[in-house]
Amino acid sequence: MYSLTIEQRLSELIPNRQEPLFQAARYSLLAPGKRLRPKLVLETAISLGGTLEAAIDPASAIEMIHTYSLIHDDLPCMDDDDLRRGLPSLHKVFGEGMALLAGDYLLTYSFEVLSSAPFLTLEQRIDLIQTLSRRAGSFGMIGGQAIDIASEGKLIDEVLLEKMHVGKTAELLSACLEFGAIVAGADGERRVLSEIGKEIGLAYQILDDILDATSTTGHLGKQVGADAARGKPTAVSLYGLEGAQDKLESLKSRAFQKLEPFPVSLKELLKKLLQRNK
Ligand code: IPE
Ligand code: IPE
Ligand code: MG
Ligand code: MG
Ligand code: MG
Repeated sequence: MYSLTIEQRLSELIPNRQEPLFQAARYSLLAPGKRLRPKLVLETAISLGGTLEAAIDPASAIEMIHTYSLIHDDLPCMDDDDLRRGLPSLHKVFGEGMALLAGDYLLTYSFEVLSSAPFLTLEQRIDLIQTLSRRAGSFGMIGGQAIDIASEGKLIDEVLLEKMHVGKTAELLSACLEFGAIVAGADGERRVLSEIGKEIGLAYQILDDILDATSTTGHLGKQVGADAARGKPTAVSLYGLEGAQDKLESLKSRAFQKLEPFPVSLKELLKKLLQRNK
């Protein structure tokens, strides 16, 4: 659901110009990602009474931030991964410098998109900008990625692993649910949605770690076994495969209890997200 709208809007937002910067941004942004984050924004907004027209640009802005994080995550100075979304990583095709800049462009541009998102009040736009900049910033995604890089080859404890997972993945997923609440003007639901988003996001990263250890490269469209090869602390390296699966199940049941009062369509989407095998 909503897939076509999301693909169309992403393609409209990045001009199809010849310069390598635009072609590089389009290469990564329009590659076949699962689009879970924009789908979550749209589903949350609409299930709380908001409109697709108002939610689509905020949803696209989050996918831009997510894609920039993947481009940078794959660079040789970070995870050094050559495959992403079933295609060679951006730096393998356009070079490291252009990949760095295409990521910077998507990051910067996402805030321009939010600042001029139609069908929203100025207050809503500022709220979106503040929410995303915090969730993607030093106490959110960048903070999590910094712990990840600093922890390579080290043994870290459960507390730091959770801080890393919440930072690098859960904060942005939680921002998707908050975005939906902001677009719909659903202030009363915002806090609980944000908490649910954190739990689901943490579960999502644990599942990502499990898939890295159990799936295949062809199926995932990214190199499996990469975490162990780089000596990364993960849910699997710390708890073992069964322990990680138990952790995932308990997070899921906690989040779904809180989701009880919300519409079935939102629950179904979140369930699907955690049943992913790619
Ligand atoms: C990958 O995210 C990185 C994580 C934060 C786990 P996704 O698994 O959602 O990647 P795409 O968007 O479908 O490529
Ligand atoms: C990535 O985590 C999180 C962000 C990009 C913010 P991973 O490094 O585990 O993601 P994959 O496995 O490369 O997709
Ligand atoms: Mg990484
Ligand atoms: Mg990675
Ligand atoms: Mg991973």
